[in-house]
Amino acid sequence: MTDPLLGVRSPLPSAAPTIEELWSESRRPLVEQLRDQILAEGPIPFAVFMGAALYDPADGYYVTRADRTTRSGDFLTAPEMDPLFGAALAAHLEAGWERMGRPDPFAVHEFGAGSGALASGLLHELRARHSPLLDAIRYRPLEADPAREATVLRRLETEGFGPEPMQLDRDALITGVVVANELLDALPVHRVTVVGGEVCELYTTWRDGWFDDEPGPPSHPGLEATLAASGIELREGDRAEVALASREWIQRVGALLARGWLLLIDYGGPGAGLWGAPHPEGLLRTYRAHHVGADPYRAVGLQDLTAHVDTTAMEAAAEAAGLTPIGRTTLAEFMAGLDAGELLVRLGSDPATTAERYRTARGALLRLLDPGAMGRFAVLGFGRGMAAEPPLRGFDFRLSRG
Ligand SMILES: C[S@@+](CC[C@H](N)C(=O)[O-])C[C@H]1O[C@@H](n2cnc3c(N)ncnc32)[C@H](O)[C@@H]1O
Repeated sequence: MTDPLLGVRSPLPSAAPTIEELWSESRRPLVEQLRDQILAEGPIPFAVFMGAALYDPADGYYVTRADRTTRSGDFLTAPEMDPLFGAALAAHLEAGWERMGRPDPFAVHEFGAGSGALASGLLHELRARHSPLLDAIRYRPLEADPAREATVLRRLETEGFGPEPMQLDRDALITGVVVANELLDALPVHRVTVVGGEVCELYTTWRDGWFDDEPGPPSHPGLEATLAASGIELREGDRAEVALASREWIQRVGALLARGWLLLIDYGGPGAGLWGAPHPEGLLRTYRAHHVGADPYRAVGLQDLTAHVDTTAMEAAAEAAGLTPIGRTTLAEFMAGLDAGELLVRLGSDPATTAERYRTARGALLRLLDPGAMGRFAVLGFGRGMAAEPPLRGFDFRLSRG
């Protein structure tokens, strides 16, 4: 079965794996390291397990291969589908830059820059439009693994952008925009459940030769506080994910933003509509070779772990960081507001465009606009020192719902 949201298939039902199979499908050194940590310290918060499974410097899922988000990898993100996505963002960035009075330099810090596909699509589009913004831009790709940042900068240099003018210090105050596409869903989450009417945390323990869940008292007061603030009501046995790391990330990045805005694109929605009765098992998912699953203790280090984003909690984090909401919409409306369809028309009328390139771009646009697929993603903007009205391009379009 194909998940309409992410275009991935469910795994075929199979018998429970043996311990030997669990070892052989996982990265052994990572499993041994986590096992030894648990045996020495006791059960660890699931966020610690997830952080290691995804970002361990030697064996983490995102560190060992660069093509996780591509067709040859495990799942496909919007920038990897086609350059059209990054190109559409060019009009949004230009509008924000104009609103700010054309600062030069204008920093673009892209967190979770991946392969650099978004950066490439965006910069090529600015060049194609002869946009004066291109001269002011200092593009800074940021990644969990610094080696990946260098790879993206090399890619941009090869494509004729940078590298020197493209770089800014990682911790410099930012006048410009912070962009994060599908970053928050990839940050480690804590897991909670309700036992005997009490909110408990689900820790990761080592039992009978493999990882397993173990309920215990919450390791952080923010867990219950976030559930309450987001209006998430859990019943006995319900499971939910709480993204303390995402909240901290927004607060850290918000503190670096001197003037400009934060643009977040991800899947999720208001927490109260996602956890509890709507999804009693929670929304932790795994991705491997374009198949979706829900067991985080399979293929450790070799499958993606991800959870929907609680936009209520992200809005609260942004407010706590002193940022002001400047827009909230769906990706479908955002793309429509940025005239992504015109980009496709332009591509189709360019004699240099191959039939295959056109078909890929058209397929990508359909998925971006489809409210049953990526079009359902949330797009959130938070500004500092920036007027919210009139809405910036991209935030100014609403489908009529009548
Ligand atoms: C789901 S992938 C999305 C990649 C890319 N934005 C895209 O849309 O194709 C999430 C990315 O975030 C990166 N990441 C995770 N934590 C990060 C952090 N603290 N700072 C920067 N990047 C991070 C991961 O390494 C990974 O490349």
